[in-house]
Amino acid sequence: MIFLKAKKEIEYIRESCKIVAETLQIVKKYIVAGVTTKELDRIAEDNILKNGGKPAFKGYRIPGAIPYPASLCTSVEDEVVHGIPSERTLKEGEIISIDVGVVKNGYYGDAAITVAVGEISEEKRKLMDVTEKSLYLGIEEARESKRVHDISYAVQNYVESNGFSIVRALCGHGVGKYLHEEPSIPNYGIKGTGKKLKAGMTLAIEPMVNAGTYDVFEGVDGWTIKTKDGSTSAHFEHTILITNGNPEILTVN
Ligand code: MF3
Ligand code: CO
Repeated sequence: MIFLKAKKEIEYIRESCKIVAETLQIVKKYIVAGVTTKELDRIAEDNILKNGGKPAFKGYRIPGAIPYPASLCTSVEDEVVHGIPSERTLKEGEIISIDVGVVKNGYYGDAAITVAVGEISEEKRKLMDVTEKSLYLGIEEARESKRVHDISYAVQNYVESNGFSIVRALCGHGVGKYLHEEPSIPNYGIKGTGKKLKAGMTLAIEPMVNAGTYDVFEGVDGWTIKTKDGSTSAHFEHTILITNGNPEILTVN
């Protein structure tokens, strides 16, 4: 079942999303060669708590893995998503996806950005730019009476026509009352198909794009998803609201 959010619920979601956006902005400033992903996690958690929120990912459970132990997902290079913050030190030339979720007043916000560590190659810059642009093209389709796979198609089409591949094993999702709600939002699909979109839906759209093939595998920690061919991966995500007019991006300040 897809929840349509009432005005008050949207206000709560908006509030959580603002904390998410602010947290990403702050963490971004600390992404330099030499910092550990654990230090970034600490900075994020401090900001979430300071704003009266709770880290939405911490303690999250999936079958066969320890409860998620951190506030951020920090996914470096060939790590696609769900990288666990650790003593790993960032190196010049790497890219890192920072994903953060916040719950406050019982409502969730979720967003991610990919950031360069110092100077990066032209190929990695293009990978990041194409991934981010595909997110905005997807959001552009998030309109009353369009369909879920209109979003999916827009993302896939742009990514593939730029020579990259879109991860299939993981999807975007409804978000708000829970971190993960219906509908699932694949990043590939046939336009004009899937559930009808309606004003009041809040969605997390999150393309994950690999420089090589789209195949991924799960690391031994039970969380970290990596590219099968070792190629670099980028990830951007926003929580958005479908309205009677333009889609509204909630995870901005
Ligand atoms: N943004 C990711 C998602 O929506 C982050 C989930 S991490 C988890 O799936 F720990 F909460 F699973
Ligand atoms: Co998400």
